[in-house]
Amino acid sequence: MEIKNLMVTGGCGFIGSNFIHCLFSQTDFTGRIINVDKLTYAGNPDNLKGIEKDYPDRYIFERADICDLELIENIFSRYRIDAVCHFAAESHVDRSIKNPGAFIYTNIIGTFNLLEAARSHAGDFILFHHISTDEVYGSLGKEGLFKETTPYRPNSPYSAAKASSDHLVRAYGKTYGLPVTISNCSNNYGPYQFPEKLIPLITLNAKDGKKLPVYGDGRNVRDWLYVEDHCDAIWAIMRSGRRGETYNIGGNMEMENIVIVEMVCDILDEITGIGKNGPRRGLITFVKDRPGHDRRYAIDFTKLQSELNWSPEESFESGIRKTISWYLENSEWVQRVRNNEYQSWISEQYGT
Ligand code: NAD
Ligand code: TYD
Repeated sequence: MEIKNLMVTGGCGFIGSNFIHCLFSQTDFTGRIINVDKLTYAGNPDNLKGIEKDYPDRYIFERADICDLELIENIFSRYRIDAVCHFAAESHVDRSIKNPGAFIYTNIIGTFNLLEAARSHAGDFILFHHISTDEVYGSLGKEGLFKETTPYRPNSPYSAAKASSDHLVRAYGKTYGLPVTISNCSNNYGPYQFPEKLIPLITLNAKDGKKLPVYGDGRNVRDWLYVEDHCDAIWAIMRSGRRGETYNIGGNMEMENIVIVEMVCDILDEITGIGKNGPRRGLITFVKDRPGHDRRYAIDFTKLQSELNWSPEESFESGIRKTISWYLENSEWVQRVRNNEYQSWISEQYGT
């Protein structure tokens, strides 16, 4: 059954916007996208500039909070939504430590509302795909990989809220027979990422000669995946993944934070030259560790590989160069994000 009216939640965020670009330009998807986004600080309409013009009959934007069930039900009915790809979330661990409330509402209640709306349209409903994170599995020691069967052990309010939403999605599949799939992915990087996350933050600070904060000893390990590879995997799961199943997505690219920061410094030195203050590695500053900081994430994605023939295509070396170049070439985007200009535009447009 072909999806005709796909609700993408959080489509103005980092991964959601990349997914919308990718769906229109690189896949066999022929339906409409209804992008539902509250436009929080992380939701940036600039990420989808030109999309309404390029796809006038196939792209619709609805500014809405997924915590508002009535509004979500209304959007479901108005557009005859037959599938959901659910990205919308509060996504930054450091913010979840300072202010967990928003994470509970959006990530848990928001997901519950979408599931309820999908359940009440069960007759026509094709798929609820839920985007999640490897952080739900907790932290690894030096050895081992997260598998789909690894027990959940979330350590931050962010990952605990995501874990909770994963359980709800799975339960709606089991209890109500809702067609669901879940993907748990490792750290993404690439264009349009809000510069509070490690790679864009370090890139922009290093470009401007500002300090580069590295938490703790810098030896925490993350697995990194180029965002377009993630989008590709999501679409493969939506098309052909087994309903009711979870798929891990990873990049086979475990790196210590400090190694990434040094790499970004060296690439920038190479591209823009070394300034009067010397190599950018000199800007690295070790700062107080994040509370509850998970030591290591690593993903076993053989299920996705063997069932759906998916593997990451971008190497870290080429992906990080592309990403750094994107931030250098898109200074207007950076400027508008830094000055909060798109937020002023949102206030003018929507009055809030
Ligand atoms: P992001 O913070 O860049 O974007 C989140 C989007 O959700 C924004 O557009 C925001 O406006 C919207 N949003 C937030 N609250 C909302 C609400 N109440 N109602 C409607 N819209 C709301 O996040 P991202 O990095 O693009 O992550 C997208 C999804 O992928 C999240 O579910 C996240 O948990 C998951 N994920 C992210 C990564 C990563 O490395 N960034 C890795 C694995 C999984
Ligand atoms: P982040 O991009 O926040 O993603 P996550 O916490 O979801 O993995 O952080 C990636 C890693 O980089 C994580 O181990 C924390 C570390 N980090 C720093 O060392 N300095 C920073 O300024 C930031 C934002 C993160």
